[in-house]
Amino acid sequence: MSLKDTQKKLNDYFAEKLDQFGATPKGVDYNGPEAQAVRFEQLVGVIDPSRPFTVVDYGCGYGAMFDFLHAKGWQFEYWGVDLIEKMVLAGRETHREFPNAHFTTDETEVPPAEYLLAGAIFNIKLEASYEDWRAFTVETLQRMDRLCTKGFSFNMLTSYSDADRMAQRPDLYFGDPLFYFDHCKRNFSRSVALLHDYGLYDFTILVRKDF
Ligand SMILES: C[S@@+](CC[C@H](N)C(=O)[O-])C[C@H]1O[C@@H](n2cnc3c(N)ncnc32)[C@H](O)[C@@H]1O
Repeated sequence: MSLKDTQKKLNDYFAEKLDQFGATPKGVDYNGPEAQAVRFEQLVGVIDPSRPFTVVDYGCGYGAMFDFLHAKGWQFEYWGVDLIEKMVLAGRETHREFPNAHFTTDETEVPPAEYLLAGAIFNIKLEASYEDWRAFTVETLQRMDRLCTKGFSFNMLTSYSDADRMAQRPDLYFGDPLFYFDHCKRNFSRSVALLHDYGLYDFTILVRKDF
């Protein structure tokens, strides 16, 4: 299956989840709120919240990251970007009262931000080959890097998962954390952290550009 076809099918997959479960963690395919919150906590480690900041939430879904940042009492301007219009509409609708929340499907509309966070955007590859999906992730990371000045973070399912778990789910992408650590070090910044100690079948990478 071509990547274009995969992307289209994926859009349908996530749009269906949203229709079924609404603007909730299950509506963006998490098992529940805890699974989402643990991952968000890792992703926001790239941010220095001691002063107001601007942030892009890349693949924002309905904007749960906005609520997570807001609950911390931090001062920020938020841009949620998602390929799926329904997600963006849900984000706008549920964040109407927040003047610092902006949502779009078009990443070229987003002003340059200090930070970019990308939660769970690479996990499902459907029938795409491992190689094609890896190439797609690398291309996407390059775009993400260009959208922020101080740093970005992303997470992925890990290839250090049980072999039978991975064999049972050929539709999921289990990335090699060492490949991504090396790739980010070589291409984006000397300051890269690999977090693989939070008890889930995934890892998070933080790329700091302002050290
Ligand atoms: C599993 S959901 C996660 C949503 C949100 N980041 C969260 O953690 O609650 C993945 C979302 O990423 C979006 N997405 C995936 N790849 C994307 C891309 N290249 N650009 C924009 N959005 C993307 C999907 O449309 C989907 O809404």
